[in-house]
Order: sequence, then structure tokens, then C-alpha cells
Amino acid sequence: MTLAESHEELLVKTYQPPVNSGRIPSDKKPWITSMDEYNSMYKESLDSPDTFWRKMASELVEFTKPYQQVTSGSLHNGDTQWFVGGELNVSYNCVDRWARDTPDNVAISFEPDAPGGKRTVTFKELLENVCRVAGMFKTLGLKKGDTVAVYMPMIPETAYVLLACTRLGLVHTVVFAGFSATSLADRIKDANASVIVTSDQGLRGGKLIHTKKIVDEAIKLSGDVVKNVIVFERTGASDITYVEGRDVMWGPLFKQQASYIPPVPVGSEDPMFILYTSGSTGKPKGLVHTTAGYLVGAAMTSKYTFDLHIGDVFCCTADIGWITGHTYVVYGPLALGVTSVIFESVPTFPDASRFWQMVDEHKVTQFYTAPTAIRALRRLGDSYINCCDLSTLRIIGTVGEPINPEAWVWYHYVVGDGKAVVVDTYWQSETGSHIITPLPFATPTKPGSATLPMFGIELAILDPADGKELEGNDVTGVLAVKRSWPSMARTIVGDHDRYLSTYMHVYKDVYFTGDGAMRDSDGYYWIKGRVDDVINVSGHRISTAEIESALIVDNNVSESAVIGVEDEITGQAIFAYVTTPKGVVDSEEVKKAMIQTVRKEIGPIATPKRIIIVDELPKTRSGKIIRRVLRKIAAGEEDQLGDLSTLADPSILDVLVKKVRAG
Ligand code: WTA
Repeated sequence: MTLAESHEELLVKTYQPPVNSGRIPSDKKPWITSMDEYNSMYKESLDSPDTFWRKMASELVEFTKPYQQVTSGSLHNGDTQWFVGGELNVSYNCVDRWARDTPDNVAISFEPDAPGGKRTVTFKELLENVCRVAGMFKTLGLKKGDTVAVYMPMIPETAYVLLACTRLGLVHTVVFAGFSATSLADRIKDANASVIVTSDQGLRGGKLIHTKKIVDEAIKLSGDVVKNVIVFERTGASDITYVEGRDVMWGPLFKQQASYIPPVPVGSEDPMFILYTSGSTGKPKGLVHTTAGYLVGAAMTSKYTFDLHIGDVFCCTADIGWITGHTYVVYGPLALGVTSVIFESVPTFPDASRFWQMVDEHKVTQFYTAPTAIRALRRLGDSYINCCDLSTLRIIGTVGEPINPEAWVWYHYVVGDGKAVVVDTYWQSETGSHIITPLPFATPTKPGSATLPMFGIELAILDPADGKELEGNDVTGVLAVKRSWPSMARTIVGDHDRYLSTYMHVYKDVYFTGDGAMRDSDGYYWIKGRVDDVINVSGHRISTAEIESALIVDNNVSESAVIGVEDEITGQAIFAYVTTPKGVVDSEEVKKAMIQTVRKEIGPIATPKRIIIVDELPKTRSGKIIRRVLRKIAAGEEDQLGDLSTLADPSILDVLVKKVRAG
């Protein structure tokens, strides 16, 4: 095998699980080692779901009150429940039982922004820290069912906050600290969060992030929802604003708290957290995840996808502000008593060897990142890897977008030395945990395919035109799930109808993922990307409608149409076609200001890569923008515009093409 194999060759190649890689310690025998085992467990999960999920739940989670029924409700009615009638506490499951059984094992290994400052927190220490944060929440009067917003950097304290919320039955809503004050305010209001936890500042790639300042602005925009702000002293900056009666500094309050506060049992179906994600219309959706099902899903997939064993060091580089950070930085690994590495920085700070230095330093055994990072690091060359000992790695995962076979092969051979298994995991904020993934020591893999369904996931590929299920192999259509699974989101905050119409009623009686997919001749799934108006930039979901609503805030924008364009590093990049009021001159300054508006309204993740000011957008006679035409032109495929019979004014096309080509 060479790294120079052609794309076509890579696409048809199958890799056998490297069971004899020499990297599997004798006390960490893989949980599942053959396709027969996978097949029989998968079959049981569909044929006898009650038996299967009872086994999983008892293996992975402790309940304080047994559940009476494994599951109830239907996808169609959107009233799915799991482990019905049971009670449990998430924080107890992720912290207390390990503080009891393995108190001196490391729970969190922290890699701060500046290299060389590694810090570890044992399970015993984690318990104390989580209890003290829970104590702070109690001091502020928070009670079960209240919502706490979290706007924090990637530091151990963020995990304490989440675990302290679940300890008391508080619902957390984490907002990625790259979102703007406006976005944060929308989420605070929508989730009705009376307390927000933040830091004075954040550090990322050597740059300061003014988290508290952004929170102050967001509170101004969100009326009187927020009663208190807890401020963790990350940098100790002296110039942050302190609002008497509202703001509370973490340090002194934390110290005053008791080192133990008992966990509060909550119902299996009580809400655990709200997480906002972009939809195909403007307003982000506050997905609600509930307690028992989410925890079982997080623990099960962590255990089997990453073959986690006690003593492993798991590193997921996703921010806790995304679902990947919730499930695979915090809840999954800790529910299994495994060390989780929290990484505050970026892959290229101070240089492109940062990930690998970290793997070496923390002796990481499972590493989980996004294709965009792999592509970017691959481009910078292998020399950044040679510095480091990566031989502890057994499993290396990817998530967030399809991984191109070339990047997959590089990851496997250069990062994994051909000995670490690549797991390409497909899932969504809505699914809570992996739904399509290889099992590392059982599933033969194909670069670019997320392979086969996780236990309990019954997939279907549908004809998008009529929703009919396409049976058999070698079919392409849209991806749906035919029955509920424990970790699926239960609703959208305040808008159950939107939940039903977005996911459950697009096609009959199935959960609709919003992704296109192909099932190949071996039954393997290949995700083709979103089929709705959602763009995937560096693995982050952003809705075109949301960016358009942000652009319109700029006085120089009359109308806009945003599309995703293929990008070598970020997967997709944001292109915005804009029309302006009469008299506005097409200049770099005007475009820069528009970009600033988007960054202010949503945050830097939504930054358009290019703004193209045009006289007119291509529309149908009834006034609908024809995005397909804009996509083709942006991709340089103006010779393949397809059927233009609905286009109101075909004469605008030439001008559009010229504008785009002009750069
Ligand atoms: C995409 C991230 C291909 C997909 C966990 C999905 C993927 C969206 C993969 C969810 C993968 C995620 N291969 N595409 N392995 N994983 N996606 O909610 O389009 O941020 O619908 O959850 O990312 O993004 P979200």
C-alpha cells in the first residue's frame, strides 16, 4: 500500500481490522472482535429490543429506581420514551461511582492553550469540584428543572458545570463560545436561562476571547431573563465589568461550598440539556435531550465505537459547545470511568504538531477529531508528526462531515502508522450518539464510508420524491431511521410542532436525518451531505437562512442568497450573493462591512468566504430564488445549469457568471 493510490482505488478498497497490530494491551481485550458478534448483537437489538436495551442499561448505568418499561411512544407521534418510570442521576454515574471504585484514576487530563501546562484531575477530585459547583448553584437558589446557560472555554471547569447541573437536575444549555452576543441572547431567551456561567476571558491559539464582555452584551439584549452570572477566573483579567448583585466571581464562592452534595435523582425522561442547532429555516432549534436514554446512548457508543476500557485516555478535540463535546468529551468517557482529555487550544498552535504533542504527552489511546482538521494538517506535511510518539493510539475517529478517502488513508497510515483503526462516525445533534459507525476490531472499513448501523438503529434509504423505501443494496436517496433509539432528541424547546414537521412528518413514520446517503453493494452506508439548506463548514452546521437573516441587518443588503461551495479544507465554504440598494458601490469596504455584520450577528463560524454583489438574483416567475443555479455558477459549472424553464429572466445569467469569475 502506498499513499499515492488513486482516488478510484481508494474508494473500492476494504481494510481489515488490525487485531494483530501489537497495540492492544493484554488487559484491554476488545469488546467485540468479529462481524458475527456484531451481527448477532445488532440482530438482537432489533428483534428483541427490550432484552437488548435492558442488558445495555444494566451494564452501563445505575438507576436509583428501576424503570418499568423499556420504551413507549412512536416516531409519528413524537412521544418516544425510554427506560420509562426509572430514576437516576447522571453526575452520580459519571463521577461518584468512579470516585468510589477508582478514586485516584485520572478523570480529566487538561491540555491548556499554552503548551507545557498539563494538569490532571482524579475522580476523587472531580467529585469534590462538581459538588462545590453544585453548591454554588444551590446558593443562587437554582432548583431542579431550572436552566443554566454555559458560555465557557474548553477547560475542566466547564465539565464541572455540566456535571453539577445534572447533579441537581438542572438543565444546561451550552453555547459555543464563538457565537456572538446576539446569538447567545437568542438562546438565553429561548431556553429561559436564569443563570449563566462564563469566564472572565478565554484563551485560544494565544488569542484572548472576551467571554464576559460578550455575556454582558447578550444580557442587555435578552431583557430580564438572566438573574446571575458566575464568572470563572480563567485569566484573572482585572478590567472586566462586574455588576453588583448580578455577577458572582467563581473563586470565592466555590471555596465556601461543601465538598459533598448528594446527587438528586431525576426521572428517566426528565430533560437533561438543551442544545441549539441550525435548521433549514432561520431560527436555531433548541433540541431537548432527556436523561436515561441519552446517558445509555453516550455510554454504549463510547464503549463500543472507541473500545474504551478503564485506564484508557480518550481525547476528543470537539468543543463542549457542540454535541460531540457533550457526548464524547464529558458524558460518554466519564460514564465509563475513562480519562477524558480536555484540549483548550487549536491544532496549529503554536504549530501543526500540537495534536500529536498532546497525544504523546497524555499517552492518548483513542483520538477523535474532524475531517477538516485532518485535511488541514495533512496539507502541512508529515514532518509535524515525526516529532512525536503516537504508538499509544489504538483507535482514531472522525466526525462532522464525510471524510475524503485521501485524508482517511493519511490518518490511518501517517497518524496511525497503519496500526490504529479509523472509525468514521456518523451522527447528529439530534441523534445524541453515533448511529452509523464501524466497530474498531470487528468491522472491515472502507475509506469514506461510515460503514454500518449502531445497535438498535434501523436505517432506511428513501426515494426523496415519494418517500418510498428503497430496498436492497446499491441504492441512493435520503437517510431515515425507522424506529426510535434511546439517545434521540425528544423535542424542540417550545415548538413540538416544529420537531414533528422537521423530523417525523417529512416522510411517513420515520425520523428524517436531512442527509443524502448511498447504500453500496455490501450494505455499507456512504453519507452524501445535507439535502436541506444547511451548510457544513468545518463540521459545523450553519443554516443558509440564518446567514441571510444576518446579512439583511446590514443596510447595504437588499436581498441575499447564501450557498455552500466545496472547499478543500473546510469541506464547504459560505458564499453569499447579495443585491444592494441603488447607489451602493461594489467595493471591498462594503463587502467587508457585510462580513462584519454576519460575524456580529452569528459569530465567526458563519463568516462568508466570499460576497458577490450582483444586480439581480436568479428567480422563478413566482419569485423564489433558484439556488441550484447559484451553486452551479459558484462551482464553475455554468455549462450544467439544467432545466432553466422556470427562470424568470435568463438574461441575468451571463452577468452573474462574469461577476463570479472576476473573483
Ligand atoms: C454531518 C455532529 C458524513 C451530517 C455529530 C449530519 C457527517 C451533520 C458525519 C450533523 C460523518 C456528521 N460523515 N457526514 N461521519 N458526521 N456528519 O448536528 O451532515 O453538528 O447531518 O452533529 O454533520 O452535525 P451536528
